[in-house]
Formats: sequence, C-alpha cells, structure tokens
Amino acid sequence: MTSKAKATAAGCPFSGAAAQDTCPMGDPADNARAFNPFEGAYQLDPAKALRWSRDQLPVFFAPELGYWVVSRYDDIKSVFRDPVLFSPKNVLEKITPATPEAMEILQSYGYGMNKTLVNEDEPAHMERRRVLLDHFVPSELEKHKDMVRRLTREKIDAFINEGRTDLVESMLYEVPLLVALHFLGVPEDEIETLKSFSLAHSVNTWGKPTDEKQIEVAHDVGRFWQYAGQVIEKMRAEPEGTGWMHHTIRMNAKMPDVVTDSYVHSMMMAIIVAAHETTSLASANMFKTLLTHREAWEDICADPSLIPNAVEECLRYAGSIVAWRRQATAPTSVGGVDLPEGAKLLVVQASGNQDERHFEDGDTFDIYRDNAVDHLTFGYGAHQCMGKNIGRMEMRIFLEEMSRRLPHLQLSEQSFSYLPNTSFRGPDELWVEWDPARNPERVDNTALEPRRDFAVGAPARRDIARKVRVAELRQEADDILGLTLEDAQGRPLPKWSAGAHIELCVGDFDRKYSLCGDPDSDSYQVAILREDTGRGGSRFIHETLKAGDAIKLRGPSNLFRLDPDAAHYVLVAGGIGITPILAMADRLKAEGRSYELHHAGRSLTTMAFTARLKADHGSALTLYADDEQTFMDLPAMVAGLGKGAQIYACGPQGLLRALEDLTADLPDGTFHFEHFSTSNAGLDPEKETAFEIELVDSGMVLEVANDTTVLDTILAAGIDIACDCREGLCGSCEVAVQEGDIDHRDMVLTRTERSENKRIMTCCSRSTGGKLKLAL
Ligand code: HEM
Ligand code: FES
Repeated sequence: MTSKAKATAAGCPFSGAAAQDTCPMGDPADNARAFNPFEGAYQLDPAKALRWSRDQLPVFFAPELGYWVVSRYDDIKSVFRDPVLFSPKNVLEKITPATPEAMEILQSYGYGMNKTLVNEDEPAHMERRRVLLDHFVPSELEKHKDMVRRLTREKIDAFINEGRTDLVESMLYEVPLLVALHFLGVPEDEIETLKSFSLAHSVNTWGKPTDEKQIEVAHDVGRFWQYAGQVIEKMRAEPEGTGWMHHTIRMNAKMPDVVTDSYVHSMMMAIIVAAHETTSLASANMFKTLLTHREAWEDICADPSLIPNAVEECLRYAGSIVAWRRQATAPTSVGGVDLPEGAKLLVVQASGNQDERHFEDGDTFDIYRDNAVDHLTFGYGAHQCMGKNIGRMEMRIFLEEMSRRLPHLQLSEQSFSYLPNTSFRGPDELWVEWDPARNPERVDNTALEPRRDFAVGAPARRDIARKVRVAELRQEADDILGLTLEDAQGRPLPKWSAGAHIELCVGDFDRKYSLCGDPDSDSYQVAILREDTGRGGSRFIHETLKAGDAIKLRGPSNLFRLDPDAAHYVLVAGGIGITPILAMADRLKAEGRSYELHHAGRSLTTMAFTARLKADHGSALTLYADDEQTFMDLPAMVAGLGKGAQIYACGPQGLLRALEDLTADLPDGTFHFEHFSTSNAGLDPEKETAFEIELVDSGMVLEVANDTTVLDTILAAGIDIACDCREGLCGSCEVAVQEGDIDHRDMVLTRTERSENKRIMTCCSRSTGGKLKLAL
C-alpha cells in the first residue's frame, strides 16, 4: 500500500467515513485502491459509495477484488448490450475463491454448478432462452396473479391484529419463495431447508466468507446441490407435471443438446435463488424506502394507480441486485478506459441507477419519475431478467394489499443489517408497527376488497404524471406565455439540470417544454409559444389556462445535456428555442465557463427573455432580428470554432439542419441539438404499409401493421423496450438493425448515422418495404 492509500484507509477527513470507506473528496486513484464492496460504505449504500467514481473515475480497477468497476449508467448499459464482447461466464463464479478445504468439501458432494441461462455464452444461451421463454409471456403470468394475492392476504391476515411484525419473516421471505416454487413446479416441502441453502449459495457466490465460514458454506452448498438433483429426479417421475422446471425437464428429454442435463441441474439450484431472493429483498427494500419517504407512501395510499411506477422507482432507488458481472473476451474499452482481454467487470447497477447523466436528480426518490422504468436492476439486453414481470407482479400486489389494509403502517426504530456481499441487497429484518384499532377493515368491510389490479408488464409512461398548480402566468414576448408551476401539495418540485424539459398534460394535449428558471427553485418555469398551425396544445394553453388551475406534468427529463468537458460553448437559439439555451447559459455563467450566446428571431418583440439575457449574459450575447436585417452567420460561427469547442442549438428544423451540414466533418460530439417540436404527428394508416420485423435474439417474427409502430408491436409481444417521447426526439427506443432498409423519421440520428442503416428509432421509423432484422 502506498503512503497515500494508507492515508485514505485511515479514514476520510471530509465525511468521517470509516477506515475501509472511500473518501468522497479524496484522490480518485486512492478511492479506487481502497474500494471494498464487502464492508463499509458500499454495504451501507452502494450508489452513494460510488458517487465519487461516477463523477471522477467511472471505470476503475479495484485491486482487492481483481475486478474493473463500472459505475455510470451508459457504460453499464453498453456492457450489458454486448454479451459476446462482455461474456456473462463469470456471473456465478465464486467472487472469493474457495479455500482448498472448501473445494474438497464441495467435491465430496459432487458439486458441479455449471452453465445455467444467466452465465451461458452465445449462441447457446439464446437458443435455450427461446425454448424456455413461453412460460414468462404476460398472458401466462396473468394466471399466477390470484395465487400471489391469496398468499399475500393469508400472511397479512395472520399479523394484521398484532400491531408489530418483522415483514421479512412474516411475509416477504415466504411469499416469493412459494410463488417461485409454484411457478417452477417444485414441491413446497422443504421451506426452512431452502432458506439456509439460499443463504449459503449467496455467500458462496457473491460474499467474502472467512476460511472457517467457507467450510460451513461449502457443506450447505453441497447439500443444496444434492437436494436440487433429488428434486429433479422426483419431477422426472411426474412427466405431466406443471411449472417451468417441468417444462425444462421435458425440453431436456426432447432437445438434450440445447437443454442439457448439466444445465437442468445447475438451473434448478440457481433459479430457486434467482426467483425468490431477488424478489424478497426487493420487496423489503421497497417497504423500507416508502416508509422512510412518508409522502410517497401516503400518495400511494390515496391513489393506488401510482403503484406500478412506485415499484419501478423502488427498484431503481433501492434495487435488490446492486451489481452484476461480465468478462471481456477481447481487448476493448469502456467509458474511454482500455481493458485487456479477460478483464473481469463488476457493473454496479445501483450506481448507474442514480447516475444523474440519465436520471434527473438521480439520488432523490421520486415515485412520479417518468423514466424510473429505465433502471438496470433487471439487467439489460440478451440476459435481461426473464422473471422481471413476476417480481413486479408480486411487489405490486404486496403494496396494493398493504397500503389499503394498513395505511397507518410505520417503520419501527431499528438498525438494519445486510448480508455482506457484492450483489444481493436487502435488510435481514424489517420491523414495522401500527395501531390495530385503526385498521380500516375493522369499521368498513369494503376495505378488504382490492381497489386496483394491474396488467402484467412494465408501467405505461402515459399513466405517470404529477399534479401541479399554475402559480403565475405572464407575457414574455408577443405570443409567448410564461408559466410558473408549483406542486399541487406545496412540496418542492424535483431538481433539474440545464437542458431539461417537462411534458405538460393539459386538456387532451401532452406537449414538451424546456425548463428555463432556476434549477434549484421549488417551482418550474416554462415559456410557451402560441402556434396556430400546431396540434392545438399551445393555443389551448394560451386561451384557457389561468392562475390557480390544476394540471399535470411529466418529467423533468433531460435529453439535451451539457458536456462538462468542452473548452468553449457556442449556444445558438432560434425563436422559442431560447428556453433550454437560457438555462445552459445560466449554468455556464455560474460555473465561470467560457461561452457565447446567439439568439435569433423574427423581431425583438417576438423574442422571449431579451431583457434578462442582456442583464445576465450581456457580454456573451448577440441578438439577431429578421426585421432589423441582422442574421446569424452560421458558416463563420462554425469556421471560428476553437479546439474543443462545442455548439448547442435549439430552434427550427432549418437552423438545426444547416448547423448539422456545416459541422458534418468536425469531430463527433461537436454539435448538440434539440428539436422543440416534431413533424411526427402520428401515423396516417392510409399512407403506411405493413411490414415484418424479425427479432433475432428471441426468434420471433412479427407484423408491424399499417396503423401501428415497431415500438408498440414489440411491446405487445411482451418484450420491454425503453421509450420516452414516442416522437423520434429522445433516442431512448433505439434498437440495432442487422438487416433491412430503414425509413428514418426521427430527429435523433445524424445524416451519417442514417446512411449507415444500423439503428432504428422504433417509435416512429419504419421499413422502406422489406423485413427488418432487429437485434432483440
Ligand atoms: C436474470 C434480477 C426476479 C428469473 C436476472 C438478472 C438480473 C435479475 C440482474 C441478470 C440480467 C443480465 O445479466 O442482464 C432480478 C430481480 C428480480 C428478479 C431484481 C426481482 C425483483 C426473477 C424471477 C425469476 C427470475 C421472479 C423467475 C421466476 C431469471 C432468469 C434469468 C434472470 C431465468 C436469466 C435470464 C438470461 O440469462 O437469459 N434477474 N430477477 N428473476 N432472472 Fe431475474
Ligand atoms: Fe423517443 Fe423513440 S421514444 S425517439
């Protein structure tokens, strides 16, 4: 250890963190050297523990672990996205190598954990996944709902008059285990034994047991292995048995080369843990998080329609799988860091899930967050959790039943303990209390009836919106109305970053507007141009909104972020495009960065914020007005760009296309733009033709009808795919195309990217006619 590393290990001067913790303000190299996921800060809160890494060193080597740690959202996603370059083969490897004694014990039981699904390489993995997928499609999972509700209600009945319980012990451990066994078709006879086996498997695979503990764990893991073998034999004797493992066993008989004997035995052991520990821990995290964010809990009690998104936000903010593994199969780079062939990666989803480069105000818990579902807790790509919709279903039912029957539930005073390991996270116990005299069902029998049932699958974004109130309206310029919005209950609205937008839901319209006030204020400000030729949203707002009106909004989201590393920023706004640009200028000024601001419009009276721009950004500002014959000289602007300078532009399509052409030969990342409107006003079925898509990974061939999009066709087939704007503006619904000609209709891809024909925005772009083969 170097003397610097010793200084860090002795404790953090800024946070008072304990010896093994990483110092938030320290030298990133020291923090990397000191990183230890088995104790200290990571065990307390993995996302917080890696904040320094997200900010300063997003990919680093941790010598204690022998792994490269990846902490940013985009980097983690790019690793998950490529299962060939980043093989999952080390996913179930013992992260702490077995001692020779433990090895001997494991061998004495014939232990042979090998390939399952989660650690299998391509192409074998996909071939197997396809054969075994049927049981997980939404229509099949719907059939399990009643059982989940019945089990949940029985457990609640047993403790509802007690006034205090450990929720893990009394419900959250056993229900997911019973659901898992039922789904798998495994006999329910050895619940207690399975508990100790699962624990041993987690410690064995992701923990750091002492040499002494290794021996105990090796015996339990060995017994678990043998138990799994016996269960398979029992199940083989029931050829008509129901459940996924029975199906797997039948497939093993039918296609022994695809679903091998070794796979069946390894899977039997791994799936029991995968299917229940994950869900138990996630559910315990969910109740802990909601009860410590009382307003969120109360909102759910008052409005159960919030439950599906609240579950996603809990999975994002406090998921049960906080880190996963991959191994590089060739020399490569992640986040600009070169990695050798064979490099082992610990991708920390908990950290990515709070990365503010993807989630606005990422370390704040917000059940109204409209992109919570983008979390990485289920992994991503070819290996994304097959059971995610079972986990979601259970968590929703737990929450629906508990918030209805025990709205007065409180978290008891307690200190929480966690099993020290890299990946599985949730409290060992979760004590809650309530006054049984206040149980709603004592006075009203209807309180026993579920208020809401939720369709299986990810929540729909259109169902997520927060209630706000129009606090003030003002005229910012001719035809431009300024709005100040406040939370309907007077709470602070979430923080946002320069370039962010919200989506206002007013009347029948949903329209996006960039935020342009102070990002740290508790309220939001937007400026809205009246567009008489548009779809009517802005006209409606101009004509009908009054101070005090209650409306809804989605967001904030940010698809137009400032790269913090530019040497100089050229900000260009056309007309109402000034709104995000103003927020950017404010931020750059506050940070003392070098910037210039160009704002053009038809005339000064039609341009918003001119007085404020002059007052706050006068020395950096140039205004251009058509009626004064002053025009932007875009070629000169681009020609004058210094090294490392970047352009950020928002405005009409003509302006953006001109800048795109002028910057076509400059390095990638020089030009950033945002459209504040789109011409994708929806599909006109009369002008469209149907075509086929083939999903290469899952082997499905689907028809995209003339009145639907590629995105909706894929979602309807039960495959999760992110989407935000649904208008070709945000890039979140992108899918890689392996074959076929694309009719690009989005505003995201550059001209070069379009001509490469490799990526499609599934919400709006289509095929030019023939079949598209998609990497899904
Ligand atoms: C894979 C998380 C519930 C079955 C995974 C992966 C994660 C995960 C992180 C690896 C993803 C990757 O490598 O990209 C979770 C969480 C759950 C949950 C957080 C609950 C909240 C379930 C349930 C089942 C299940 C209930 C089954 C009944 C599977 C299977 C895979 C998997 C079969 C392997 C998929 C493949 O490699 O193709 N899960 N899981 N999971 N999970 Fe889950
Ligand atoms: Fe935004 Fe498709 S969902 S581009």
